[in-house]
Amino acid sequence: MTRGEAMTTTRARITGTGSYAPPKVLTNKDLEKMVETTDEWITTRSGIKQRRITVNEKTSEVAAKAARRALKAAGVLPREIDLVIVGTVTPDNVFPSTACFVQSILGVKSGVPAFDVSAACSGFLYAMDIADKYIKAGISKRALVVGVDIFSRIIDWKDRSTCVLFGDGAGAVVLKPSSGKKGILSSHIYSDGRLWQMLYTTESIPPNPFETKGKSNPECHPYVRMKGNETFKAAVRNMEEACLKVMKLNRLKPKDIGLLIPHQANIRIMNAIKDRLKLSDEQVFSDIEKYGNTSAASIPLALDEAVREKRIKAGDVVLFVSFGGGLTWASAAVRW
Ligand code: ACO
Repeated sequence: MTRGEAMTTTRARITGTGSYAPPKVLTNKDLEKMVETTDEWITTRSGIKQRRITVNEKTSEVAAKAARRALKAAGVLPREIDLVIVGTVTPDNVFPSTACFVQSILGVKSGVPAFDVSAACSGFLYAMDIADKYIKAGISKRALVVGVDIFSRIIDWKDRSTCVLFGDGAGAVVLKPSSGKKGILSSHIYSDGRLWQMLYTTESIPPNPFETKGKSNPECHPYVRMKGNETFKAAVRNMEEACLKVMKLNRLKPKDIGLLIPHQANIRIMNAIKDRLKLSDEQVFSDIEKYGNTSAASIPLALDEAVREKRIKAGDVVLFVSFGGGLTWASAAVRW
């Protein structure tokens, strides 16, 4: 790329962030009363102390709350939004998409495309990757991207190996085109469907009556199943590789990273990545202690917290990296 071309590159810039976590707190001590576990086990194995749980709130409502805050921060009205993408694996319904519900709740104009992306914990980075491409192509001028999940609805609350890890929440960003140096430098998404059995939900669509010989309404609920140990190793491997690739592509050295915001799945995974990338404690953001793993919400929720805590300065390079069911993983580098 010549110097002249670099000057005129259109980038998607994050102009506002917002998040929402439901008020009900479920602590490790609360979980001790529900399953055979201890606060000590959960804290040392995952870094989680508490998580938030929705009560009488739908995914779309939680998403809309985060979205409203992001719109306010960006100074953008719902009627100015021209693209809505929601990353989620816990939609209100099979259809319409959560994005269509969000469009309706917020009052985003009729005709604006709104759709969901299913990539589990990578859902937000997948959604932002698509919005980035729409903006670079000149199709979108104001995109709303939301990451939201309510795992409390798909957790098997009797399975101690998973129920202690997840929480509910949402995070959102508003993206606009920018011709300067600031914005998404590059964004990359990956998947490997051959490894789906590492992390998945049981089937949620009932079989048809031709398959059940007329027996109607068999019990069918999506429950999270995870091979924790294998997932842990795959997460460290793929997240490290995704970070190294995005750093190499953008000629970034460890010292150039202002803040790494990794998917908040496990503090030990985040520490392993920090060590492998030779980053300091200050360069890695974590709020897992407060929220647990909020799946697609984890990165935008952490980003919003980092912004509010003033952990990101103008000109800083922020690195995002995720890993989740699919398997899916993703990374992005952003100049703030
Ligand atoms: N309390 C007490 N003991 C427990 C609990 C619990 N809640 N859960 C499991 N154990 C026991 C196990 O039964 C096992 O006992 P055993 O040795 O007698 O068999 C022992 O603890 C160790 O279990 P491991 O699974 O080996 O523990 P590990 O150190 O691997 O930690 C964990 C488990 C926290 C799940 C970890 O493997 C992990 O974080 N994995 C990755 C999660 C992740 O990244 N997910 C991806 C994103 S999620 C998404 O996409 C939806």
